[in-house]
Amino acid sequence: MIGRKGLGRASPVLLVLLALGFFFASYNLLTVVIHNKASSSGLLGADRLIKPMIQRYENAKNSKYHVALTATDAPYSQWQCRIMYYWYKKVKDMPGSDMGKFTRVLHSGNADNLMEEIPTVVVDPLPGGLDRGYIVLNRPWAFVQWLEKATIEEEYILMAEPDHIFVNPLPNLAHGNSPAGYPFFYIKPAENEKIIRKFYPEEKGPVTDIDPIGNSPVIIKKSLLEEIAPTWVNVSLRMKDDPETDKAFGWVLEMYAYAVASALHGVQHILRKDFMLQPPWDLEVGKTFIIHYTYGCDYNLKGELTYGKIGEWRFDKRSYLSGPPPRNLSLPPPGVPESVIRLVKMVNEATANIPGWNTLTSG
Ligand SMILES: *[C@@H]1O[C@H](CO)[C@@H](O)[C@H](O)[C@H]1NC(C)=O
Ligand SMILES: *[C@@H]1O[C@H](CO)[C@@H](O)[C@H](O)[C@H]1NC(C)=O
Repeated sequence: MIGRKGLGRASPVLLVLLALGFFFASYNLLTVVIHNKASSSGLLGADRLIKPMIQRYENAKNSKYHVALTATDAPYSQWQCRIMYYWYKKVKDMPGSDMGKFTRVLHSGNADNLMEEIPTVVVDPLPGGLDRGYIVLNRPWAFVQWLEKATIEEEYILMAEPDHIFVNPLPNLAHGNSPAGYPFFYIKPAENEKIIRKFYPEEKGPVTDIDPIGNSPVIIKKSLLEEIAPTWVNVSLRMKDDPETDKAFGWVLEMYAYAVASALHGVQHILRKDFMLQPPWDLEVGKTFIIHYTYGCDYNLKGELTYGKIGEWRFDKRSYLSGPPPRNLSLPPPGVPESVIRLVKMVNEATANIPGWNTLTSG
């Protein structure tokens, strides 16, 4: 548009402005290049480097995931959430992490005393005792409400739980429309064909379509979760309503409900064993991403596991049902696996650094 002639006649001021504009444009470009170089180590492979810069920038932005932690206002849930959020903040910006923002989806219907400490959205529990005392049935309903009312910048969502600790920076393990999940050894759709068929009719496909997973941990595209979540509510309520299914699935009913609901939408998960480790069964942290401390860790003073029998040394989240564990828990005796030592050290680090650990308690 600005030809030679036009430039010739342009005022010096305009020329200076043009030059300045060009300088800033190249300066910005340079910053983007440097920024991309800095963040391209490791997980972003060489193939992504040669893509046009703009697209790369888009990709990097879109591959972020929002951490969504479903929780209640019970002190037992609260202290775990505080530790969880502490470690989120520590690993979020480390190289290799694709973490975006964080939301505690509080499904007890009322604000609690952690609203200032942890970004929180309050949603309602299921109406009129539909959960029949099985409190985790509220999770799918919590996701439906949260997805409806929240503005979520990230394109992906990590569904997380209070007893998760981020032990290594977690990249987005999903790939496009394929979410990533953790294979649980006790979720066995093929061995429960008769029951699964009540909710996953034959015309949908073989029961092996159903992944051996629960909803957490899962990293999934937000648009897919928006489709699956209402079905997940529906399937979990119907499963709970069916005595045979309720009996067979027990405390993992809601996990089966997610697995079935996602299969009903034709969604299959990439199964990542390194997503999570579960002390005391998994012995080494290695390159896994999340410590899930749902199992009690009981040892004698020789460092031998006494699972199911209270150990001379123990760490079990269920010892702290009515309030937080004290700061500075004693470390396990020699011989105990690294995963357990790491867990206790991470709990201790969090409780030492969270202000008001012992005082801000009752929900
Ligand atoms: C679940 O879905 C089925 C079939 O689409 C429908 O008939 C039923 O009313 C739904 N149940 C609930 C509790 O929403
Ligand atoms: C933690 O406890 C150990 C004994 O188990 C003690 O030696 C240490 O000084 C304590 N640290 C803090 C910060 O209280």
